[in-house]
Amino acid sequence: MDDPKVLISEDQIRQRVNELAAQISADYAGQELVMIGVLKGSFIFLADLSRRLSIPRVVEFIAVSSYDSGNVRSGAVRLIMDVRKSIEAKHVLVVEDIVDTGHTLHYLIGMLETRAPASVRTCALVRKAGAAQVDVTVDYLGFDIEDEWVVGYGLDYAEKDRTLPYIGVIETDES
Ligand code: IMP
Ligand code: MG
Repeated sequence: MDDPKVLISEDQIRQRVNELAAQISADYAGQELVMIGVLKGSFIFLADLSRRLSIPRVVEFIAVSSYDSGNVRSGAVRLIMDVRKSIEAKHVLVVEDIVDTGHTLHYLIGMLETRAPASVRTCALVRKAGAAQVDVTVDYLGFDIEDEWVVGYGLDYAEKDRTLPYIGVIETDES
């Protein structure tokens, strides 16, 4: 298979992550943030974003599964691994790699809000603008892209290409 075609370069990602980190640091000035990365896809984005913040922050992870096979999304979401600490009275930022149908983020926001956090906001590196099936607010967004399958910078296709330094587009069975 050919190498993925560059859609968002390393430089573009670095610059945008810097901008998001500056905005988040300003918005949460004087507060501590609990960053919850959604495994596995967010691990590289969260690593870079968290290190560029200038506010106190702690890192947690959560894992969900979307009852999918390959790149076909069904909409049902299941919790695989929970955070280790209580988020009660904490400012929570859910960090996602990509928002596609919106089901994952919608499920997570609903679940976390039942735990009486001080606030819950969302951050995603990429959003597929035309693909939304549920309305979900992304408070901090890196890039809007077309509805195509992307890999790299944490994103995979059947576990492949996750550690590419850029975001690229591949040909899938669907396209
Ligand atoms: P949603 O629930 O449909 O919004 O899907 C969100 C999850 O699907 C993301 O967290 C990714 O794990 C995965 N996903 C959706 N689109 C892509 C893609 O283009 N590349 C890699 N993973 C994707
Ligand atoms: Mg994900």
